[in-house]
Amino acid sequence: MTMGTTTQAYGESRYWDNRYANESESFDWYQKYQSLAPLINLYIPRHPNQHNRILVVGCGNSAFSEGMADDGYEDVVSIDISSVVIQTMQSKYSNRQHLKYLQMDVRDMSAFETASFDAVVDKGTLDSLLCGSNSRQNATEMLEEVWRVLKDKGVYFLVTYGAPLYRLRLLRESCSWMIKLHVIEKLSCEDKPEPPMWDLTNPVPLHGDGSSAEELLGNNPDVHYIYICTKDNSLKPGVKREPSVD
Ligand SMILES: C[S@@+](CC[C@H](N)C(=O)[O-])C[C@H]1O[C@@H](n2cnc3c(N)ncnc32)[C@H](O)[C@@H]1O
Repeated sequence: MTMGTTTQAYGESRYWDNRYANESESFDWYQKYQSLAPLINLYIPRHPNQHNRILVVGCGNSAFSEGMADDGYEDVVSIDISSVVIQTMQSKYSNRQHLKYLQMDVRDMSAFETASFDAVVDKGTLDSLLCGSNSRQNATEMLEEVWRVLKDKGVYFLVTYGAPLYRLRLLRESCSWMIKLHVIEKLSCEDKPEPPMWDLTNPVPLHGDGSSAEELLGNNPDVHYIYICTKDNSLKPGVKREPSVD
């Protein structure tokens, strides 16, 4: 996905309803669950006696939530603004008790209680909102809602084409996240170079405006960026922090 006049419509529900009405096959933007599973497992660990509650925002007709449930996540709620795709997904997964699909706008998730999810997964949805009109306002509303529904120390797992120079500022200005960056090659699984240009589970050092990542990876590297944004209530302005011992 790149910004441009043809992608303006990605921010509009009508566009997605039309698209999903004509698209019966499941499709995953950017990456499939299996490619990202090592990172998901690292940041959203599965515990035998405790169910993580996961929210997948802008799920579309992707098989990502199914992949998570197959991998042992027992409470995966997926939302999308398109009622067309949600109806399709509800009937497709009606026999999967760990998967729930709801029509909802990510900018207004008032149906969910504050601090009710352990993790929020976003693959291409913030990018879509950033393509439409009022992009900055829509993105800020979305990020504030994601922050609200996350528990303290919960993780916003953002998969995007947006390099740190473009995404870091937006993330930092919306909420007080603790941010780590990972990258994964864009190519399909079969074409991915071995060894990869950067180990998926190894965070890319991030300093200042994110130019350190560009210095390491080069200009316009052929990667998707994964921002691991941890909600830390103690980072909120006005909250006094305990001195930390290194
Ligand atoms: C680029 S697609 C990504 C779909 C899926 N996450 C994937 O990785 O294949 C963006 C999705 O975001 C959904 N979307 C766009 N605006 C939304 C909004 N305001 N609230 C919820 N979903 C939205 C679209 O309907 C679409 O399914």
